[in-house]
Amino acid sequence: MAGWRRGYYGARMDQTRTPYLDALVALAATNPGRFHIPGHKGGAGADPGLREAIGDAALRLDFPSGIEGVDVGPDPLDLPFQQSQALAADAWGARRSWFLVNGASGGNHAICMALAHLGERAIVQRNVHSSVIDGLVLSGLRPTFLAPEIDDDLGVAHCLSVEALRGALDEQPDVVAVFAVSPTYFGAVADIGGLAEVAHAHDVPLVVDESWGAHLAFSDLLPANALACGADVVLNSVHKLGGSMTQSAILHLGADDDHPDGRIDGRIVDRSVTLVESTSPSALLTASLDAARRLNAVSGAELLAETIESLRDLRRSIREIPGLDVLGREITQAASVFAWDPLRVSIDVRGTGTTGNRIAKYMREEHDIWFELYAENVAAPAFALREPVAEPARRLISGLTDAVTALRTEPDEPKAPFAPPPPWGPTVMTPRTAFLGPQETVGFDGAEGRIAAESLAAYPPGVPNVLPGERLSRATLDFIADSLAHGGQVRGASDRTLSTIRVVIE
Ligand SMILES: Cc1ncc(COP(=O)(O)O)c(C=O)c1O
Repeated sequence: MAGWRRGYYGARMDQTRTPYLDALVALAATNPGRFHIPGHKGGAGADPGLREAIGDAALRLDFPSGIEGVDVGPDPLDLPFQQSQALAADAWGARRSWFLVNGASGGNHAICMALAHLGERAIVQRNVHSSVIDGLVLSGLRPTFLAPEIDDDLGVAHCLSVEALRGALDEQPDVVAVFAVSPTYFGAVADIGGLAEVAHAHDVPLVVDESWGAHLAFSDLLPANALACGADVVLNSVHKLGGSMTQSAILHLGADDDHPDGRIDGRIVDRSVTLVESTSPSALLTASLDAARRLNAVSGAELLAETIESLRDLRRSIREIPGLDVLGREITQAASVFAWDPLRVSIDVRGTGTTGNRIAKYMREEHDIWFELYAENVAAPAFALREPVAEPARRLISGLTDAVTALRTEPDEPKAPFAPPPPWGPTVMTPRTAFLGPQETVGFDGAEGRIAAESLAAYPPGVPNVLPGERLSRATLDFIADSLAHGGQVRGASDRTLSTIRVVIE
């Protein structure tokens, strides 16, 4: 029957239910006397501009969680909040799941904090999201960085290979966790089953940042999700492609037959999630996760099939625009790429003689079309679960055709390879030691040779180019300055204009 799924424990949970959303709506409908925060009291105390913009219906639902009978009560396991998290665990195939209101970023912070009491060493894929690096700073974990496979033709980072992980684990005793990211921004999916097997053979849990893959659990047309492949911890940034509201995400714990209670103690994860989250998590965000879970679990397969089909047509149309190509399944030819997510549409602009940055800017200014990701050689509009592709696709194609016509120059060398970021600098000290140790501010241009005290991630895509504790090279400084000059931003820097940078006093 549609709406029923077989959960991890073999229990059949009714995925058509939304206990948290329903409880919140029912509560607001009683028109309760609001002698508590938020001070806008369901809208009455809010600025008229905000009331007009988002409507009183949304403001009436804006409670901090901690509501008696919804989030807290005498039977904690039977409250709408716990039921809703249990439904999420069932839907994604987890042993236990935690709703996060500070994004997958908060989940990465929490899991680093949860693991650090077990020891200090972790193996970390070098191009993890900057929130993992922030988690290393917070927790003091000492990373051994492993480079992902770099695609020389495309010049993009792919996945962590099983061989690279095996080599690192053989060399490195006392590792408390492996941190990997999959899928990548370009839809490359790692061999999570292989990585998990190697990690588990060394008795080490595998943490997978599957922020871009919340949808993978819901369609047989997609690669299997990381939990199904044996990952021990998985982060899903559900607001990205899963349909919940911005900032909402989920942290899952997995389990297998050898470890039915998992390799990581849920009570410690619980404590760590609480440690990094607000004491007033938004009930509205929580309700949006409850609703997104239902949509994915009940209708995901159908909606994803439609979207995947429409994107096939869209790719064809984009390829017909002179100079444009779209990355596709061929990326699975790379050794570390196990599968490809067909929801990603990464437009290769190398044949146009202009850059992804310029195309994105032109699309914004001339067509009011906004891309999720763009860089020198690529521009990537994001598509998600319930994408009414036909009309937006027409708009996208017409904008792209105009942008390419307006900006096109004869490329010196058609299909010039992507310009990859320069190699990462050597790690001289842990991120935490560098971030918290004695430091000073120096001019950005004169920072070559110094040890960074902060991370710098040219955004998009936000993968750190420099980490606290790494020595700065001329090539890296130039690359970041160039990204800024081409309209990018930098995350992590204390001086966002990057005229200065904080470095360690040696
Ligand atoms: C791989 C990866 N992990 C984590 C995050 C952070 O997710 P959130 O925005 O939910 O905090 C991002 C955001 O872009 C990401 O790309």
